[in-house]
Amino acid sequence: MKVSKTISSLKSVISQWRLGGQRIGFIPTMGHLHAGHIELVNQARSHCDKVVVSIFVNPLQFNEASDFEAYPKTLDMDQKKLISAKTDLLFLPDNEMMYTNGRVATTKVCVPEITQELEGEHRPGHFDGVSTVVNKLFNLVQPCMAFFGEKDYQQLLLVRKMVDDLNMPVKIQAVPTHREEDGLAMSSRNSRLLEDQRKLAPELYKVLQQLVQKLEIPDISLQEVELAAEKLLKNQGFEVEYVSVRDAYNLQPVTAQTTVKVVLAAARLGKVRLIDNIVVR
Ligand code: PAJ
Repeated sequence: MKVSKTISSLKSVISQWRLGGQRIGFIPTMGHLHAGHIELVNQARSHCDKVVVSIFVNPLQFNEASDFEAYPKTLDMDQKKLISAKTDLLFLPDNEMMYTNGRVATTKVCVPEITQELEGEHRPGHFDGVSTVVNKLFNLVQPCMAFFGEKDYQQLLLVRKMVDDLNMPVKIQAVPTHREEDGLAMSSRNSRLLEDQRKLAPELYKVLQQLVQKLEIPDISLQEVELAAEKLLKNQGFEVEYVSVRDAYNLQPVTAQTTVKVVLAAARLGKVRLIDNIVVR
């Protein structure tokens, strides 16, 4: 696996591959990689000739300084996992390289509407940080395809919308959420859960599954099932931010025109914020 720590070394490798007509698949990450990330790498390998992964803990998308500081960094382990998964190139930019004019002065990309509610409401500025860095990374790597997890469902839709609105020449491929055996969605933040919190954490997915079952009841009130799920989680010790049933294509409230629904939730266990969702296919 090649490792590029500068933009010029990244560009020289990428331009050779592009000249050779090779299809580049790209997976942007913030590191502390787990099997969910590796699933994205596997998908990229099956669709493309070359697989590029970036690891960059993007300060622009953290709305809490403490979350940024505490974000786990495990580069040696990450590199081993990426080599086993047959990654061709690891791009490791740093802050100065990504934000040459400083974080505040940098040009930002803002994707409207889809970013206002849910995560957007609870994490102000977060999505502008995501769209800005993903845009920059796409410009640097120039991939044919980029792979994003359904785990971060709103992020996935935001990237799709940005690519569509800005006519960016990249195909976005969604990858289903990879889970632990007990159902907990894999996340780099899970390692910060204390023992008791880790035992409780899979309840988030279980409660969402129960909610999905209730959606089959004819004429059921969505507000009622959302509130019931919130109450269940609160009673178990979660600090709930939202549980919401939405239209899976645009995250708008469900209407008679909605064909596919998604149930999304965010809840805290102590200092760790968990998100999860189920697409009701
Ligand atoms: P990060 O949290 O490291 O996630 C990188 C990619 O892995 C994202 O597309 C995310 O949805 C996917 N992913 C994480 N956990 C997953 C799981 N359990 N199953 C399947 N896919 C999973 O998301 C980010 O980084 C950043 O916001 C980033 C896009 C890199 C921009 O900074």
